[in-house]
Amino acid sequence: MKSASIAAIAALGAASVSAVPSAYAEFKNALHRRADGPTDTQVLQYALTLENLEKRFYADALSQFDEAAFEAAGYPNWVRGRLSQIAGHESDHVSLLSTALGNDSVAECTYNFPYTDVKSFVGLATLLENVGVSAYAGAAQYITSKDYLTVAAVILSTEARHQAWESSAVGGSNPWGSAYDTPLDLNMVYTLASAFITSCPDSNAALPVKAYPTLTIGEGYAPGSSASFTFDDSHSATNYVIFYEGLGARAVQLDENDSATIPSELQGVVYALVSTSSDPKGVTTDNIVAGPAILNFPFDAWTENPAFAG
Ligand SMILES: *[C@@H]1O[C@H](CO)[C@@H](O)[C@H](O)[C@H]1NC(C)=O
Ligand SMILES: *[C@@H]1O[C@H](CO)[C@@H](O)[C@H](O)[C@H]1NC(C)=O
Repeated sequence: MKSASIAAIAALGAASVSAVPSAYAEFKNALHRRADGPTDTQVLQYALTLENLEKRFYADALSQFDEAAFEAAGYPNWVRGRLSQIAGHESDHVSLLSTALGNDSVAECTYNFPYTDVKSFVGLATLLENVGVSAYAGAAQYITSKDYLTVAAVILSTEARHQAWESSAVGGSNPWGSAYDTPLDLNMVYTLASAFITSCPDSNAALPVKAYPTLTIGEGYAPGSSASFTFDDSHSATNYVIFYEGLGARAVQLDENDSATIPSELQGVVYALVSTSSDPKGVTTDNIVAGPAILNFPFDAWTENPAFAG
């Protein structure tokens, strides 16, 4: 059944379709070597940790910026209304996951979000929604309960609608990255989320995740150009930047000044991390040096938008 349907799809376009299974297999190899994955409870606690963050992010910003602030920032009045609906969704996600977890729920942490005005809040919202999509996509394989998997799927697709609306209807930019969203491993997502977390209650269960050291990218980076990557480079090993977009991943060696050329085909939101592995398939928790960091390459409606082959 499975191979018959793959053959039928492949017949429609061998060149583009044949890349998909291998890219997915590469992703599985690269990021999911863990012999003992997290339990369903831990996956839900991880999801609740992210939903708590999103809920507080929207609630705080909307209490800070009223309709007049959105108007002064140049947004039509439906923007704040929709963002209020999104804030409600995040609150619903928190309630649902808290109910599912019962006494194993994790409470809100304290956060530090770096937006300074309405525009930077909306920009950060788009990136957080992207990370949310990547988080659910990457964690889905660990969920053993089919019921929880369905819940995760419908939250994921809703977060993707949020992201697409914020990026395109509000931001006037691309609603998607490519044919595939980018799955991220738990530690990678936690690295991005922990940048906003100041502290969590001691009573929260410890999650089986860790944050890697911070990676930052010099201003003005662009596809096809050299960019500088800043991290704690105290190791003498040769380092590589691994670029992730959709199901594709590519390693580019860093030069002696920690610069690397960004692949010219990258579009939309891209994650980059530094590893000592020269092969994306060999990236593991043990050889990640720093990151991921988020890069964003907006593109217009007239640009070709192929999946990143890696
Ligand atoms: C939650 O309650 C269940 C029994 O209903 C118990 O087995 C479990 O240890 C409790 N967990 C916590 C974190 O208190
Ligand atoms: C690294 O920086 C030094 C000093 O600016 C420069 O001379 C050298 O050419 C750079 N190396 C590369 C590979 O660009």
